[in-house]
Amino acid sequence: MRTLELAGVQVPIIGQGTWRMGEDRSAHRNEVAALRQGIELGMTLIDTAEMYAEGGAEEVVGEAISGLRDQVFLVSKVYPHNASRKGIPQACERSLRRLNTDYIDLYLLHWRGQYPLEETVEAFERLREEGKIGRWGVSNFDVDDLQELAAPACATNQVLYNLEERGIEFDLLPWCEQQQLPVMAYCPIGQGGHMLVNSTLKQVAARHEATPAQVALAWILRQDSVIAIPKAVRPEHVTLNAQAAQLKLEATDLEALDHAFHAPQRKQRLAMV
Ligand SMILES: NC(=O)c1ccc[n+]([C@@H]2O[C@H](COP(=O)([O-])OP(=O)(O)OC[C@H]3O[C@@H](n4cnc5c(N)ncnc54)[C@H](OP(=O)(O)O)[C@@H]3O)[C@@H](O)[C@H]2O)c1
Repeated sequence: MRTLELAGVQVPIIGQGTWRMGEDRSAHRNEVAALRQGIELGMTLIDTAEMYAEGGAEEVVGEAISGLRDQVFLVSKVYPHNASRKGIPQACERSLRRLNTDYIDLYLLHWRGQYPLEETVEAFERLREEGKIGRWGVSNFDVDDLQELAAPACATNQVLYNLEERGIEFDLLPWCEQQQLPVMAYCPIGQGGHMLVNSTLKQVAARHEATPAQVALAWILRQDSVIAIPKAVRPEHVTLNAQAAQLKLEATDLEALDHAFHAPQRKQRLAMV
């Protein structure tokens, strides 16, 4: 698995998402198994949040990483309504308990809320000093939010990015590149929806004896400073996603994809799900 540097550590360019995990008890075993399979295949960055299944996804992750903690780069997120001086340490303790660990590698503000950014950053920094988190970052921040944040210690910005949602290419992505701030792309395969039946995407996939989802991932990873975090429970999806790291798209593929999925020509409002 290829890696890139994120705030002083090497992390895999493809990680594993966990949204929708922990919601259904009957899926629990398969979810744990999928994450363990993904770790074995090198997708050792796992992205979760206190929001997902109200802690249920963190519990799934906690079970999946049992005995494997040292191999995993753990990312979790705090709700904006918990992102206060008092709220952050408490939310972090709850996440640590569910994750069954004593530190989170990267702790993100899930989206911007009512608390001043300085207060959130101060609380993150305190957690870092205490060793409860390795580093911190943000999610769903546009350029103006990042400029206001103005914190070199911010390790990443996690945003919606896929073939259908290319808005960040206009300004946010170049800005992050200039600041050497790695971007984490969520919903990289469009939540497995209609994007995957696009005829151009299918043609490019056929040319490479790959699947549309693999091309969608390789397309994101054409950029050096972007990490993709697909979520997969089906074992064949986990394997295909890990293999996508080897897939190299050619200029003709990128051109064809540009015709089918247009790059932004002007500033767009930051898309979120
Ligand atoms: N920061 C934020 O605000 C935010 C927002 C949304 C998401 N996220 C994070 O980003 C992660 C990824 O986003 P997402 O889960 O919304 O969407 P996604 O990863 O784009 O898509 C997940 C869906 O695609 C299917 N899938 C996975 N691999 C596939 C493959 N190779 N071929 C065909 N289908 C495949 C999955 O099915 P199976 O599960 O059945 O295998 C699942 O239904 C989340 O899980 C979460 O960790 C963050």
